[in-house]
Amino acid sequence: MNFELTEEHLTVQKAARDFAQTELLPGVIERDTEQKFPAEQIKKMGDLGFMGMMTDPKYNGGGMDTISYVLAMEEISKVDASASVCMSVNNSLVCWGLEKFGTEEQKEKYLKKLTTAEYIGAFCLSEPEAGSDATSQRTTAEDKGDYYLLNGTKNWITNGKSASVYIVIAQTHPEKKHKGINALIVERGMPGFVVGKKEDKMGIRGSDTHSLMFTDVKVPKANRIGDDGFGFTFAMTTLNGGRIGIASQALGIATGAYELALKYSKERKAFGKHLSEHQAIQFKLAEMATKINAARLLVWQAAFLKDQKKDFVKAAAMAKLYASQIAQEVTSEAVQIHGGYGYVKEFHVERLMRDAKITQIYEGTTEIQKMVISRELLR
Ligand code: CAA
Repeated sequence: MNFELTEEHLTVQKAARDFAQTELLPGVIERDTEQKFPAEQIKKMGDLGFMGMMTDPKYNGGGMDTISYVLAMEEISKVDASASVCMSVNNSLVCWGLEKFGTEEQKEKYLKKLTTAEYIGAFCLSEPEAGSDATSQRTTAEDKGDYYLLNGTKNWITNGKSASVYIVIAQTHPEKKHKGINALIVERGMPGFVVGKKEDKMGIRGSDTHSLMFTDVKVPKANRIGDDGFGFTFAMTTLNGGRIGIASQALGIATGAYELALKYSKERKAFGKHLSEHQAIQFKLAEMATKINAARLLVWQAAFLKDQKKDFVKAAAMAKLYASQIAQEVTSEAVQIHGGYGYVKEFHVERLMRDAKITQIYEGTTEIQKMVISRELLR
């Protein structure tokens, strides 16, 4: 067993860290306050190769492994979880899903632009009445010969307004239940496709989360991913990998808060000595660091298994379950260590605490991760 990162891993990690510090940190508070999508920063992330890290270079991707991806995700998430969710959806759900299951034509047309952030991708599964219960899709894709007629509403869609390419999950054969679902590539601007209301969120406020409405949108058959009825398996398989991305996001949020608390504890004095000299604070830091280390090992294990082409479904769900849980605990303790300063925006930890919560909700709630893990344990 070797926990040593390679030279290449360390280079990617440093590049992501430098980018986060120089390009994302300035303005992160304003973007959070104003709910401003980090469009310029995402463009630069595309130029640097962070938007299609694991994709084959022949589609302009980085050709990197999943370990490189989680290292970069952790660094970006330490500073700006709104940028990192855009990165995660684009990499794990859209680019990976298209590369694995798309046709050559789809890859040429869409993937090559998604990896460079010329296009941003969105993954549209959740509906007003089908969040966790993903088999109950109400959006319909009626087979009309050489096209599908798409009707319905999707909710809470990350990159909802900024995307150019949307992978939409919809029901074609209701009698076949989840085996009648399709995944369709919908382009921004297709007649009948409207971007709806922007959500005013508790956290990841720089990320643009919207509802989407489809009314008689004609989607060419050539835009279906996989065979007829493959859509639900496409969504589940893609989400398995996506959970590694969100687990690394949760890990990054926790680490960002911990590092700020550690630094603050060495600077701030109370009762005549630095906070870090008080055992109450030392014990908090020890617990935070231990939880982070355990989460990182779970994230790395899931990434490693995926890279080895081994079954990583349980490991990914465990990583997401645990990392998102400790992100709550660690960010809350980071606010506590900062005292009154922790409760104001300037010190960043309150934002990280708000951002942490979503990691227990999207790409499967805590309860869904437990369902996935127990299914794997019991089968
Ligand atoms: N991997 C692969 N296949 C899976 C799977 C997994 N993890 N989980 C279920 N499946 C397959 C099953 O094998 C089964 O297929 P077959 O019939 O061919 O064998 C099929 O899915 C249905 O399985 P179940 O009968 O167990 O279905 P269920 O309804 O009881 O449970 C579920 C399924 C696991 C709860 C699933 O609905 C699920 O994962 N829900 C959560 C959806 C989710 O994560 N939504 C997040 C939205 S995307 C997002 O957040 C992106 C973003 O913007 C950040």
